[in-house]
Amino acid sequence: MPVADYRLTDPAVMADPYPFYAALHEENARAVEVPGVGYWVGRMNDVRSCARNTTVFSNSYFGDAGPLPTGVNADPLQPDVQALFDSGPPVVNALWTTDPPVHSQHRKLVNVAFTRRWVEERSAGIRAIADELLDALAGAAQFDAIADYAVQIPLLVIADALGVPRADREQFKHWSDDILAGNLDVLDHERRLQVARSWVDATRYFVDIIESRRRNPQDDLISRLATAEVDGERLENAEILPIVSTLLLAGNETTTNLIGNSIVRLLEEPALERRLRDRPADIEPFLEEVLRHDAPVQCLYRVTRARFRLGDVEIPEGAQVMLGWGCAGRDPEFFDDPARFDMDRYNLKEHVGFGYGPHLCVGLGLARAEARIAFEALFARLPGVKRADEQPLAYLPTFATRGVRALRLQGVSATGQPPL
Ligand code: HEM
Repeated sequence: MPVADYRLTDPAVMADPYPFYAALHEENARAVEVPGVGYWVGRMNDVRSCARNTTVFSNSYFGDAGPLPTGVNADPLQPDVQALFDSGPPVVNALWTTDPPVHSQHRKLVNVAFTRRWVEERSAGIRAIADELLDALAGAAQFDAIADYAVQIPLLVIADALGVPRADREQFKHWSDDILAGNLDVLDHERRLQVARSWVDATRYFVDIIESRRRNPQDDLISRLATAEVDGERLENAEILPIVSTLLLAGNETTTNLIGNSIVRLLEEPALERRLRDRPADIEPFLEEVLRHDAPVQCLYRVTRARFRLGDVEIPEGAQVMLGWGCAGRDPEFFDDPARFDMDRYNLKEHVGFGYGPHLCVGLGLARAEARIAFEALFARLPGVKRADEQPLAYLPTFATRGVRALRLQGVSATGQPPL
């Protein structure tokens, strides 16, 4: 089918976007106008050059109201939804929804917190979280590798890192799911109201934590954000709130999807599981290839600040443009035989699964560590990765992220031996 005929909001295309990507590369299309979505850019060189060109391809798509999770709908907010958002603490654009020079300032500050050393120091804590989750599952005949494991690891890790008490984690998960939906999904009126309610509750909750940490700093990310100075100025609550919300958004479902998509791959190619068990050092290159082959974040948007020509397509000013990280991972000019999963490819790490350019993922070291440790712990306790049912896999109903909703596996043993 010609690339122009694909509808990205079609559930079948969301469940399997790869024929769309293949058609785009086959036609060598530099940009495709996708109804209801905007312009789609998917060739590796174009994705990279647009991501670097922050003058034209801006992350400030929210306007002066700040980054409210209103859904990616083009229609204006209904008055009751607007009133709900207005009742919450004010926010301004920060980090992910800014461009240089403001972005560079915020980024400097966040980079200071997310150092390689900080990630290394969290490794033992991540392993303890994974082991605790597996302990709780030990002996059960089956479990959901998504809800019971892949969701919990990043959630608990980021909650700990931010300084959110464990007792609040279910609430925290609910808010972060809603905020993510409000950033990536098309929402109907009812759902917009729910998301707005979660946003207001979450921001009030975090204002309390930020203020208490400012008075009494502790060893957590919120304390660092609340007390750090950028060019002699402290960040205000209105700036810290969207940074915290970006960390939730950016760190939870994404890492869940990386773990989930990796398990799906092992189920599809059991020889890979044997290889990773024999050589645990190969878990890292395996995860890199999953980030290319079945990217957890398939695309993210920009808004154009000026007209821009890509090949024979003229993108107007003010247009929404999707940078297709997952599509670029399937570019045959860049990766030989891109549909093949090959963790030995020479340019393995050149994928853009963590984005590219100034907004390159802040949490990539943390995400890699979480996913690696998740597999180390799982292999120690799960005798073999085997499905517990034969239901067809259901993918999340979005084209922006990619992951399965549920994945029932046969049980975890208490001892590391196969369950009887
Ligand atoms: C496998 C897991 C992850 C994937 C695939 C992923 C992917 C991405 C991508 C594609 C971007 C680029 C956004 C853009 O250009 O608009 C990004 C940015 C970002 N990510 Fe991640 N991410 C992951 C995990 C994490 C984690 C664990 C954190 C932190 C806890 C995190 C924090 C961020 C932040 C704060 C940004 C915005 C950076 C900026 O605007 O300068 N991510 N991520």
